Amino acid sequence: MKKYNIGLIGFGCVGQGFYELLQANPEIPAEVVRIAVKNPTKERPLNKELFVFEYEKLLGDPSIDLVVELIDDAETAFRIVKKALQLGKPVVTANKKMVSENLDALISLQDKYHTPVLYEGAVCGSIPIIQTIDKYYKSDSITSIKGIFNGSTNYILTKIFDTKVSYEEALKGAQDKGFAESDPALDVGGFDPKYKLSILIRHIFGQAVHPDRIINWGIDKLNKEDFEFAKNNNLKIKLLAKAELQNGTLSLIVAPHFVNSKDPLYHIENENNAVIIEGAYAGQQLLTGKGAGSLPTGLAVLSDVQAIIDNATYHYSANSFLMLSDNSVEVYLRYSSQSEFVTELFDNISEKYMGKKSSYVLGSIKLSKLKSIIKMADVNVVIMTSERSELQTAKLSYSYAS
Ligand SMILES: NC(=O)c1ccc[n+]([C@@H]2O[C@H](COP(=O)([O-])OP(=O)(O)OC[C@H]3O[C@@H](n4cnc5c(N)ncnc54)[C@H](OP(=O)(O)O)[C@@H]3O)[C@@H](O)[C@H]2O)c1
Repeated sequence: MKKYNIGLIGFGCVGQGFYELLQANPEIPAEVVRIAVKNPTKERPLNKELFVFEYEKLLGDPSIDLVVELIDDAETAFRIVKKALQLGKPVVTANKKMVSENLDALISLQDKYHTPVLYEGAVCGSIPIIQTIDKYYKSDSITSIKGIFNGSTNYILTKIFDTKVSYEEALKGAQDKGFAESDPALDVGGFDPKYKLSILIRHIFGQAVHPDRIINWGIDKLNKEDFEFAKNNNLKIKLLAKAELQNGTLSLIVAPHFVNSKDPLYHIENENNAVIIEGAYAGQQLLTGKGAGSLPTGLAVLSDVQAIIDNATYHYSANSFLMLSDNSVEVYLRYSSQSEFVTELFDNISEKYMGKKSSYVLGSIKLSKLKSIIKMADVNVVIMTSERSELQTAKLSYSYAS
């Protein structure tokens, strides 16, 4: 069997995890023969001879026949992938921002150069979600996909709910454990999950949706009052990504949601991710596992390397043209007195509390209206899950402590 010479670009958290796992699996006919990194003065745990500091040198090496791209810069990553494909070298990457922002271009490049790009590690760490959708669900019609797609924010929320540490301490913990992106705003602002959602939408619905078209906000606007409201109503807050097919239109959102203990996502903690797929034939299925970190993501990358060795490629369906829907969602909205006017944008309000410092309403509002509201500094919104109707509204009543 042919032995693959791998050129590894990026030797940080995921690059090192991948390298370690490849060493631990000598039966895989592949070897890392060159590693490109950025900083020539950084200490490396391997022989210096392996490293180069210009990725172009690695790509131009004719002995390299498989490129594993694991850097933290999406624009450079796209240049690397494009060049590798032009040279006929298959690529494995975990860069969700790069993949989601360039997916149609990547599909065209793969067709043009008959060379595959695989990116399982880009979506939900160790959960084999793209393979599952591509292979297992080929004969089903998926109507919705939702879940916890970001390990570091789930870790932060778990720590805040369980151990009462501050937001800053919990974020530091996620960074120390290697779950967080180099730019933490991608995680806490809810950008990272929408990159993943847009990749999944292309695989499930055949629809190219640039991540900029998906409404998102993150956990960085949650404050003490929001957490108090959740705890007093026996709810947790989870950052969820959701895509639902509704009457031929696609409803897409990434936002913090209140979930109750009946929801399987309530029980997904720390850096774990979870994906709930709803299919016409399979019904509802839950996949869960570690969504970030060196070895879990390294494993997904290694599994793609094995897939390239086995001649695997993704099966993309022809582009479909579904409209994005502007449906109403049930929300909790916390605001300060000077932003009282935002409550007029609601379709209906089921509960209103006015406090000295902060007030809130529960009610339904269109996604397009939320888009402008959520940018306001003194406002935060948490989506109520559909199970809310099962809880009596009275049970959700709560007044902030001060
Ligand atoms: N961390 C996770 O849990 C996780 C999970 C899923 C996906 N990912 C994705 O995996 C990728 C890597 O993430 P990471 O956490 O491993 O990042 P990281 O720890 O920050 O490491 C980044 C690596 O890229 C190298 N690099 C940056 N720019 C480069 C360039 N122009 N040329 C060559 N090397 C360059 C850096 O070199 P130096 O060593 O010289 O600084 C470093 O080795 C990202 O796309 C991320 O979104 C990460």
